[in-house]
Amino acid sequence: MQPAYRLPDGRQGTTASTTKARLNPEPAGTDYVTTRRLLDPDEALRRLETRLGSLHAQLRLGIEREHEAQAFGQGLSFLHLENLPLMQATIEIALRVTGTYWRGRANARKVQVRRNIVRLPNLPSAFDGFTVLHLSDLHADLSGPAMQRAAELAHGLAYDLCVLTGDYRGRTHGDCRPCLEGVARLREALRGDIYAVLGNHDSIAMVPDLEALGIRILLNECVAIDRGSDLIYLAGVDDAHFYRADNIEKAAAEIPRGYVSVLLSHTPEIYRQAAHAGFALMLSGHTHGGQICLPGGIPILLEADLPRAFGAGAWRHAGMAGYTSVGAGSSVVPVRFNNRPEITLHQFVRGNPQ
Ligand SMILES: [Fe+2]
Repeated sequence: MQPAYRLPDGRQGTTASTTKARLNPEPAGTDYVTTRRLLDPDEALRRLETRLGSLHAQLRLGIEREHEAQAFGQGLSFLHLENLPLMQATIEIALRVTGTYWRGRANARKVQVRRNIVRLPNLPSAFDGFTVLHLSDLHADLSGPAMQRAAELAHGLAYDLCVLTGDYRGRTHGDCRPCLEGVARLREALRGDIYAVLGNHDSIAMVPDLEALGIRILLNECVAIDRGSDLIYLAGVDDAHFYRADNIEKAAAEIPRGYVSVLLSHTPEIYRQAAHAGFALMLSGHTHGGQICLPGGIPILLEADLPRAFGAGAWRHAGMAGYTSVGAGSSVVPVRFNNRPEITLHQFVRGNPQ
């Protein structure tokens, strides 16, 4: 059964019309989904200004221009390895010299489906068995073969809702169009409603194109999801890791007490705030589980300020369930070692955590 959606202010309708009414100011009858055809840049900017307000849009774009390739001293981490000018070449040369480059490339294509049961004590009975397909860290322009595999896998899966937890672009700066074209191809394999957040590799300028593809970006916002008379809430925050643009308070403001709520955040580094804001579940990515790991899946670097146990898979903190996807794509150099890329099915089950 497909869920119907309701905005926190009580307005409701079919999923498509509710989303369209809120996001797309175009007249009725305009096709909302424009698969594989990106917007004209002027039209994308017009839509971004409509979405955010022109001052917010100009402010955010200006900050991105000043900081997007900064390696030191921005965001939650002091050092951003992905922004070091020679990092990509250094890793690639080292792998080629040791004869492991092509094995790493082959590993990065081997996307698997992982399944996670989420036990939620207050889950409404209508949501018992509700299943969320979670994709993260696509880095779609850098990870073409992995995107192809992810699309093949996703096409055959049954789920009620799809969420994306950021990092659509391979690099942290530069042309967004190749990655948007990659996302558009993957999007054709996805069904139903799709909600997403931005990651630290993404520009706010991508939002109009992603939303034109039918991927609703939650910019410190939430939506209500209903099944019959039962409701849960889905919220999402803007990037917390690099741009510090997250605002949990705003995202959660319209969630009534006592309702099961799920937070999408690209980085799991804000797990404390999410737990104490009352979210029952947080879905994240960002770490890639290390991407290049020692035997046994031990990450060399996580590039995140959080306990290592929160770097991949399921975890809990202060009563909140969490899950960190290792991602479907790869960044900097599209290789993986001892760390298999994933797309994830989270099944909600009514009951106490084990
Ligand atoms: Fe990433």
